[in-house]
Amino acid sequence: MSILDLDIIKGYIRMCTDGWNQGWHERNGGNLTYRMRPEEVEQCRPYFKATPGQWVNMGVQADNLRGEFFISTGSGKYFRNVPLAPQDNICIVEINEAGDAWRIAWGLEKGGHPTSEFPSHFLNHSVRKEATGGACRVIYHAHPANLIAMTYILPLTAQDFTRALWKSATECPVVFPEGVGVCPWMVPGGADIAMATSELMKTYQAAIWAQHGLFASGPDFDITFGLAHTIEKSAEIYVKVLSMGGGIIRQTITDDDLRAIARDFGVTLNEKFLN
Ligand code: 13P
Ligand code: ZN
Repeated sequence: MSILDLDIIKGYIRMCTDGWNQGWHERNGGNLTYRMRPEEVEQCRPYFKATPGQWVNMGVQADNLRGEFFISTGSGKYFRNVPLAPQDNICIVEINEAGDAWRIAWGLEKGGHPTSEFPSHFLNHSVRKEATGGACRVIYHAHPANLIAMTYILPLTAQDFTRALWKSATECPVVFPEGVGVCPWMVPGGADIAMATSELMKTYQAAIWAQHGLFASGPDFDITFGLAHTIEKSAEIYVKVLSMGGGIIRQTITDDDLRAIARDFGVTLNEKFLN
């Protein structure tokens, strides 16, 4: 028996593999964090380091994440390598009682620290935990090419991106009826982009980082990966349609069609994005 036999670690590694297989994680691109349930922490505890790492301040703070444990990809580590050597590429970190620092409890055996986007993940976990009554556990950052391409041609507003994505695949309004947030281009990895993104995540399950990628959240790996996959698939269709048609869209899903989907599937669409 090893920590790698535990379902929660296997599920986490599988999501890393799925993301790599989609082509969303060139080099060290992207990162994944999971907020552990207390029973999962207890299952993993026998494998923790005898002496945990040093506390490292994050530059951000959250009261509702005091004392929590997260699984995180390592900064500079490749998703491609996670299933080959999980103990060297991912880690479990503990958050201190002040809710402003982490220390490594397991993993990254050859050195390193959690993703450089940990401050963004952390604040997004805080906001999504609050917004979902504690249900949200996964924050996922990926670099899907079609979605990134869209950020070069569409105005960088939630309205423009939500409408384009809702209308490029019929499932989209059912999967993210509140829409998607859009963050302007910002320097990655710090407190500023963390705070800008977490403002958006008060409303949205997913936010787009202009010329960079996607932040998605959810209660488990399947739903979070499914959300990212749905958004990128729709972006791919949008890109193909504009490329094939010389930029002209001859017919699309109308706003009344969107309302009809919402009615039949029992979801409430964010009305501010409908005409
Ligand atoms: P990390 O290797 O630190 O996770 O950074 C990758 C990335 O995508 C930054 O936005
Ligand atoms: Zn990135």
